[in-house]
Amino acid sequence: MKPGTRWQTLGCGLFIVLFSLKALAHGDVTPHPLDTTGLQPVAPGSGYVNPYRGNTKAIAIGSDGYLHNCAGCHGLNAISGGVAPDLLAVAKDCFGMKAKDQQESCLKDTDEYFRDITLNGKKTGEGRYTMPGYRSVFTEEAVWAIKSYIDARTVEMNR
Ligand code: HEC
Repeated sequence: MKPGTRWQTLGCGLFIVLFSLKALAHGDVTPHPLDTTGLQPVAPGSGYVNPYRGNTKAIAIGSDGYLHNCAGCHGLNAISGGVAPDLLAVAKDCFGMKAKDQQESCLKDTDEYFRDITLNGKKTGEGRYTMPGYRSVFTEEAVWAIKSYIDARTVEMNR
C-alpha cells in the first residue's frame, strides 16, 4: 500500500466515526433560521393564534424549516420514531371536532402551546434541556410556518 492511500483510508474512517457520533447525538441540532419572505408579517404581540393555517406557501416554508430543525428528533415527515413526542398528536383531536367554534378554540390552544415550547424549549426535572428553545433564531413567522406544516400533516394523516 502506498503511504498516500493509507492516509486516505484513515481520513475516510475518521470521517465515518465523526459522522456517526453526530448522528447519535440526534443529528444537527444547530438552529437554522427560516426564510419567510412572501408571508404576511406578524405584528409583534398580536396574539398566539396561527395566522397561516392552510396557507400553501407557509406550509412549504414550514416543511423545509421542520426538516432542518426538528426532523432529527421528531422524525422525518413528522412521523415520530420514538426519540421525541409525536407532533401529529398535538392538534389531532381538534381536527376531529364537528362544531367549528369548538374546533377553532381547540386549535388556538394547540397554537399557544406549540409556540411556547418551540420558542422556549422544555426542561426535564433536573433542569436539563430535552427540547431546545428556538427563540434566538425563530421569528413569529417561522413558528407559525412550522405549525402550519404540522397542522397540514395532521389533517393529511387522519383523512
Ligand atoms: C434535540 C432533539 C429535539 C429537537 C431538535 C426538537 N425537539 Fe421538540 N421535543 C424534544 C423532546 C425530547 C421533547 C419532549 C420534552 C419533554 O416533554 O420533556 C420535545 C417536545 C416538543 C413539543 C411538545 C410536544 C408534546 O406532545 O407535548 C413540541 C411542540 C416540540 N417539541 C416542537 C418542536 C419543534 C417545532 C422543533 C423544531 C423547530 C423541535 N421540537 C425540535 C426534542 C427535540
